[in-house]
Amino acid sequence: MSTPTVTKRIGIPEIARRKGEAPLVCLTAYTTPMARLLDPHVDLLLVGDSLGMVVYGFPTTLPVTLAMMIAHGAAVVRGSARAAVIVDLPFGSYQESPEQAWRAAAQVMAETGASGVKLEGGEDMAPTIRFLARRGIPVCGHVGLMPQAVQSAGGFRATGRTETEAGRIAADAAAVAEAGAFAVVIEGTLEPVARAITASVPVPTIGIGASAGCDGQILVTEDLLGLAGPFAPRFVKRYADLGAAVDEAAREYAADVRARRFPGPEHCYLPKAAE
Ligand code: KIV
Repeated sequence: MSTPTVTKRIGIPEIARRKGEAPLVCLTAYTTPMARLLDPHVDLLLVGDSLGMVVYGFPTTLPVTLAMMIAHGAAVVRGSARAAVIVDLPFGSYQESPEQAWRAAAQVMAETGASGVKLEGGEDMAPTIRFLARRGIPVCGHVGLMPQAVQSAGGFRATGRTETEAGRIAADAAAVAEAGAFAVVIEGTLEPVARAITASVPVPTIGIGASAGCDGQILVTEDLLGLAGPFAPRFVKRYADLGAAVDEAAREYAADVRARRFPGPEHCYLPKAAE
């Protein structure tokens, strides 16, 4: 009898230990098939609340609900065996109090099988991160550009341009790390600021639009695959143009159906005698 191969998932302590070592490779995933494709290549899959914009077509991440995050989180866990899976806590599910955050995070952990959660916020969220981390929930912080605060920030814009902004982001990252976060995402932040934070905090930094100065990188997968429409932010590198491939495939299918070229006999169920 052959012994089944058991793949061990990358654990959170292993992610935390990668500070200053080989860069952490992270991507977003929202579905089982995409998680299956990405899993062999990445250390961490993030079920980001960016799914509200990418999958559901909302203009911001604010309408995303806990139920949506749990459904997509469970789908990504089912589609992966190797990468650590982290699920975003959505807007309104954790900001009120550490107790509210605990209930949301515990539900995510129990119902998805994820390795941990991510939440946005710096000094203001440090008590919440401490509350969760001390009770066994691995938390990834998220500072710099924080999409859930898009309304108060006045839009999705890079930050850290002034001394005040740079100081605030550095203080946020330090507070999040001190509170027990196992890693911190730095989004849309000027290179020198992200580099200085990476040098000063004891946990890995994961950059998105925050330069190669971070300990790891993350992108929204649909951005790098060319599936997110014609506009891509400056920090995105397109590794494929799957949008064009989908367009071409749909055009050929439509032409075949209209010309009655599809389905052909090889796609039809025929009576036994005719086979
Ligand atoms: O929601 C998301 O996908 C994220 C990444 C962009 C870091 O938070």
